[in-house]
Amino acid sequence: MPGDNANKALVDSLNGLLADLFALYLKTKNFHWHVAGPQFHDLHLLFDSHATEVFALTDVVAERVRKNHGATLTSIGAIGAKATIADDDRAGLDAMTMVRALRDDNVTLIGRIRAAKAAAGEAGDNATDGMADDWTDQAEQRVWFLTQILGG
Ligand SMILES: [Fe+2]
Repeated sequence: MPGDNANKALVDSLNGLLADLFALYLKTKNFHWHVAGPQFHDLHLLFDSHATEVFALTDVVAERVRKNHGATLTSIGAIGAKATIADDDRAGLDAMTMVRALRDDNVTLIGRIRAAKAAAGEAGDNATDGMADDWTDQAEQRVWFLTQILGG
């Protein structure tokens, strides 16, 4: 039987992932709002579609925490305390610097998802374990698009 420690580790892992989803959401929106240059149109739309995907996962991940009898993040402060994806408050970044940053942040996110999947396995949470594969596929799709824009 999975024990309390495995359950607590899973809740902590999911809350860490949740914090990074919120951080990546706002960072992607920041770049959506501020991107400039000859690729403006494509990147403006791509960043928005990526932000929408990332935001949609926040509720799913938070409710996996609740279904595991844990408390979710409660505030911007709680997000800031747990996020590993760094803020970037520069509005005037070069477009390709934005693409590279989002590519790297989505790679970081994949690591967070893998950790949550492993914790779900330890805790016997089959639902989170299975759902994490879809979250990974979505993130890998974003990484692929962003990498191709950078020239592969
Ligand atoms: Fe918009």
